Amino acid sequence: MNESQGNSPLPLREGRGGSSIIILGIESSCDDTSAAVIKDGVLLSNVTASQAVHESYGGVVPELASRAHQQNIVPVVDQALKRAGVSREELSAIAFTRGPGLMGSLLVGVSFAKGMAASLGIPMIEVNHLQGHVLAHFIKEEEGLTPLTPSLKARGSSNHQTDKNNTESQNQSTPLLNREGKGESLCKGGSFPKFPFLCLLVSGGNSQIIKVKAYNDMEVIGQTIDDAAGEAIDKAAKVMGLGYPGGPIIDKLARQGNPNAYQFSKPHIPGYDYSFSGLKTSFLYNLRDWMKEDPDFIEHHKEDLAASYEKAIVDTLMNKLRLAARDLKIRQVAVAGGVSANTGLRNAFHEYAEKYHWKIFIPKFSYTTDNAAMIAITGYFKYQDKDFCPMEAPAYSRVTIK
Ligand code: KG4
Repeated sequence: MNESQGNSPLPLREGRGGSSIIILGIESSCDDTSAAVIKDGVLLSNVTASQAVHESYGGVVPELASRAHQQNIVPVVDQALKRAGVSREELSAIAFTRGPGLMGSLLVGVSFAKGMAASLGIPMIEVNHLQGHVLAHFIKEEEGLTPLTPSLKARGSSNHQTDKNNTESQNQSTPLLNREGKGESLCKGGSFPKFPFLCLLVSGGNSQIIKVKAYNDMEVIGQTIDDAAGEAIDKAAKVMGLGYPGGPIIDKLARQGNPNAYQFSKPHIPGYDYSFSGLKTSFLYNLRDWMKEDPDFIEHHKEDLAASYEKAIVDTLMNKLRLAARDLKIRQVAVAGGVSANTGLRNAFHEYAEKYHWKIFIPKFSYTTDNAAMIAITGYFKYQDKDFCPMEAPAYSRVTIK
């Protein structure tokens, strides 16, 4: 979208941050309320309030999510500005997640962004959440971030609020390690992917292989035709009675199990597309049969089950990604989205990098899940293109990368 805000009745002013571009990013697409400030491409703050209220329901309850966003949005934005040391008047523009996501949740962020932009007379920048995940690889972190400050007391007893940027700043002096001890390769210190690169975007709602030709030019070359990888992992965890969200629990169990203990039927889908619903059903049916023999089968074998199921998903994701990289002759390969926190997937990236001479880009944990830093960095690029949106822009629950 490249509509000027000229059709808005509001006069726009230059941000008072001098010649600097200062973007406030707002993310509220699901169950994390997040705000971040980026100045000239460098992240100054990234504050997120997540909602534990959904845990007892085994999934995100949309109505509860939007209510919690309403409670959290003001203090989260306030903290993001404070920690960045930036006043409202210095902002150049407000970038917000327009979609995809839960409509009620999106509306809170969109409405807040509109109100704040209108009151300040500054432009609004709509951000596609999926594009944000991909561009998280371009977040630059300030050298010597401010020391960790105590995390905020969340509003309402059921929310956790943290400054993920500051939390992770404790790791800045040493290379960030994943749980297997392998160093991460993300952009700290200026190593960014070069265009064109491939990005495997894996979250609770998406599994896509994206050819990223430029900041504003992305092509989905493969995607799931049914369930997303994260959804398949969460459903397996639910069947095993492990709680929600299942991804991190499966990840932890899988580290102690044998990935070759069980075989599940793998999908055979043409091209670079994925399918995970057959795998999920195979898991369910096998489990049902095994439990006929041993009602406590899950308890006795949960580590091996988690490891074998995770391996089936990781192998499926990586095989298609390898085909795409080979066919398109692209060796810069990134991963993004909530499932990119998975240890097995991260290790597979390192293995493929060695085997196929890829240069890989794996996000820091704080940029794998929903966060406003990725919205702010996308806003920063769009600001330079003067890619603003009108005040009447609605939220979109469904939207993809074109
Ligand atoms: O990107 P995200 O935070 O939310 C959206 O779907 O937009 O992704 C959430 C997904 C969930 O399915 C969650 O279980 C999964 O990411 N996830 C993981 C891990 N951490 C989060 N899956 C596997 N291993 C993990 N460590």
